Amino acid sequence: MADYRQSNLNRAYHGPAIPPSRTRFPCITKFLKCIFSTIITIAIFHLLLLLIFNPKEIKPYVQTATLSTFNLSTTTTTNSTNFLTYNLTMDLTIRNPNKRISLYYDYIETQALYDDSRIGFKILDPFYQGKKNTAVLHPQFSNRTAVLNDSVVSTYKRDKGEGFFYVNVKVYTRIRLKVWGFNISGFKPEFECSLKLPAPTSSGSAVSTFDRTTCDVHYFYVD
Ligand SMILES: *[C@@H]1O[C@H](CO)[C@@H](O)[C@H](O)[C@H]1NC(C)=O
Ligand SMILES: *[C@@H]1O[C@H](CO)[C@@H](O)[C@H](O)[C@H]1NC(C)=O
Ligand SMILES: *[C@@H]1O[C@H](CO)[C@@H](O)[C@H](O)[C@H]1NC(C)=O
Ligand SMILES: *[C@@H]1O[C@H](CO)[C@@H](O)[C@H](O)[C@H]1NC(C)=O
Ligand SMILES: *[C@@H]1O[C@H](CO)[C@@H](O)[C@H](O)[C@H]1NC(C)=O
Ligand SMILES: *[C@@H]1O[C@H](CO)[C@@H](O)[C@H](O)[C@H]1NC(C)=O
Repeated sequence: MADYRQSNLNRAYHGPAIPPSRTRFPCITKFLKCIFSTIITIAIFHLLLLLIFNPKEIKPYVQTATLSTFNLSTTTTTNSTNFLTYNLTMDLTIRNPNKRISLYYDYIETQALYDDSRIGFKILDPFYQGKKNTAVLHPQFSNRTAVLNDSVVSTYKRDKGEGFFYVNVKVYTRIRLKVWGFNISGFKPEFECSLKLPAPTSSGSAVSTFDRTTCDVHYFYVD
């Protein structure tokens, strides 16, 4: 009982330290309180940093892209599965426009879609991007994939006739911001690049060229 009263006194007491009281689980209660207050402090601090530094969206674009192979196998009577053989290379540029924020790309996944069907998938190496820096990534999609949706076949024929294939490249990332030496996690920007690719020619001579394409950034906020 005496111990209990002493613990109440402790709060307003500013003199020399009094040995801590022995309530039932003082260590655990204190530990939890400490953790909660630390979490709240960190959260508020991060929010303040974000308000002060006001991170700007990353600016991705595809500078060049080449479709050197894009063949749809012809259907045989024994096996009705169509296969798409493709080789797509590109220079994917990501600009970090921030003056005071560097970025850690902890995860970066790219997907290639043709006519809404996923044809390729690639996880790129994590990387660090400094302030006001421009990084160039080189995702390459080269494989053979079974085409399960018949609409791809008609889209392919139409596109081949017109001389351009339309491939969407979706990029999913998980990044941390580095501000004043603090790492702030919880950002998952996604972006999508809608590429209009000149159809490959058997001779290899380019009939038309690829136009630089800006990608749409879908979101850039704390999770
Ligand atoms: C067609 O061939 C592929 C392999 O080349 C196989 O995975 C698929 O199951 C076959 N489909 C049919 C209907 O036989
Ligand atoms: C894919 O195309 C690039 C050039 O666009 C070439 O360097 C690479 O060797 C090709 N890969 C395959 C597997 O054909
Ligand atoms: C095939 O693709 C078309 C167009 O992308 C889509 O509307 C349709 O739902 C797809 N069908 C299947 C079975 O996935
Ligand atoms: C090609 O596709 C197959 C089947 O989806 C997959 O197992 C393989 O890893 C792919 N290869 C490359 C280089 O992406
Ligand atoms: C921030 O992240 C980097 C890379 O993962 C690490 O080296 C560094 O120690 C981290 N800084 C802090 C303050 O956690
Ligand atoms: C793709 O088709 C072109 C012509 O239609 C042919 O020259 C080329 O060898 C084919 N490539 C593959 C990988 O099948």
